[in-house]
Amino acid sequence: MKVTLAQPNAASAKADLLAVPVFAGPELGPGAEEAVAALGVPVAPLLEARGFSGKPGEAAAFPTLGRLPATVLLLVGVGERAKVDAEALRRAAAVVVRQGRGAAKAVTTLAQALPADPAAAVQAVTEGALLAAYRFDKYKQANGDGRPAELAALAIVPAGPGGRGSGGRGALTAALAAGQVRAAATNLARDLSNEPANALHPADLAAAARRVLAGKGVTVKVRDEKQLAKEGFGGIVGVGQGADHPPRLVELRYAPRGATGQVVLVGKGITFDSGGLSLKPPDSMKTMKTDMSGAAAVLATMSALADLDIGVAVTGYLASAENMPSGHAIRPGDVLTMKNGKTVEVLNTDAEGRLVMADALALGAAAKPDAIIDVATLTGACMIALGIRYSGLMANDEGLAAELLDAAAAAGEPTWRLPLPPEYHKDIESDVADLKNVGDRYGGALVAGLFLQEFVDDRPWAHLDIAGPARAESEDGYLGKGSTGVAVRTLLSWLERRGSRA
Ligand code: BES
Ligand code: MN
Ligand code: ZN
Repeated sequence: MKVTLAQPNAASAKADLLAVPVFAGPELGPGAEEAVAALGVPVAPLLEARGFSGKPGEAAAFPTLGRLPATVLLLVGVGERAKVDAEALRRAAAVVVRQGRGAAKAVTTLAQALPADPAAAVQAVTEGALLAAYRFDKYKQANGDGRPAELAALAIVPAGPGGRGSGGRGALTAALAAGQVRAAATNLARDLSNEPANALHPADLAAAARRVLAGKGVTVKVRDEKQLAKEGFGGIVGVGQGADHPPRLVELRYAPRGATGQVVLVGKGITFDSGGLSLKPPDSMKTMKTDMSGAAAVLATMSALADLDIGVAVTGYLASAENMPSGHAIRPGDVLTMKNGKTVEVLNTDAEGRLVMADALALGAAAKPDAIIDVATLTGACMIALGIRYSGLMANDEGLAAELLDAAAAAGEPTWRLPLPPEYHKDIESDVADLKNVGDRYGGALVAGLFLQEFVDDRPWAHLDIAGPARAESEDGYLGKGSTGVAVRTLLSWLERRGSRA
């Protein structure tokens, strides 16, 4: 789908669909008054009959019978006027894209529903539309799913006759571009994470990094299983040793001129999590190709840094292995020596994420960055605690936690802070090694967080457990079924705020 910025008068252009916002009430929003007047039909009773009240997610389509240049007028609910924000516009844009399936062109005045910040509005509509248009159909034969093709083009009519400043044409064009970059990065993470595990082994993830980051201002260094063993990455080697496809640690570096700081991102890249010898039951394995969603999010974030002109130096690590049972696999009771020298007794080989993350965190922390953020589909316990829509955030630094919660809210990615209780540290104390990799049944997300904390050398650090929101099990706003690309837009918003040179 192509998204463009239209001229301010484009609401009267020819199109298959004209989509206009309606506030709660229902109260006709910008562009809606004129369009409804041109229809020459009293729509209020029709809306009432259809139960349309302007709530987010609602839509009502009317044939225009030649009274408007557009063939169909689509009224889209955006909720209460005073509460319209970027997320409301993203979701409304998704409604337009879904309703517009099969059409060639839609024009929308949705962005005008947030007149206080025309650029943010254009970015949100762009982002929501492109995220909603995503589909993963490379393994389907042409038209195999019988769904109509996506909407081909969306023209956004911005607020007002744009002069200079935040609503000026230049700012709006930049906002459109930013929305495109953020959506493309998110969709890249979705693509990688939706890829089946027989098509994406750790070496393929490394190859994908090289391919995707070429020309994006990011250098790629890959450590293979031999280098990992030689350099003491006991966690990554240990988890990967049961698989026929060996592990990789992918190091990505973005270093803009005059960088305002240095941060490290670490992503969990388990390309398939069978549980290892602590084998998962079959049903729990069905979605375990997505156990590299954290690494996908980090890779995708790195791919957007240059395009967004982020002013912070960022080093990304993809800690990648396949967790498989075999005669070479780690056993419960084995002891591993991690990159920072700490020893770990592995009592459950299904708690593998923390083992690969620990090595990468230790390496990242050794460079003494200003902040470290890790992203991982780490625990089923986090899903029990927060459900499938919320990411769990754990942090050893109040400022960093607050920044990330802000960024997540701006990105529309629900995130909730969880504690790192020192009282639970005894859960990971081993009889034979410095640490053990599992604790009690209860508080599993927090115990996993405490385990990771052992490897960040007291640097400011935050951990995002995305086990739940990495996948959506049904269509929800601009999310489709399958991988969501969660955390990419949160990380980009955070980095943007941290080091914007614009
Ligand atoms: N990859 C899983 C966590 C997970 C579960 C992600 C469900 C997405 C959906 C992780 O490696 C795992 O198996 N964790 C165990 C830890 C336990 C053995 C301490 C879990 O959550 O059950
Ligand atoms: Mn596991
Ligand atoms: Zn896992």
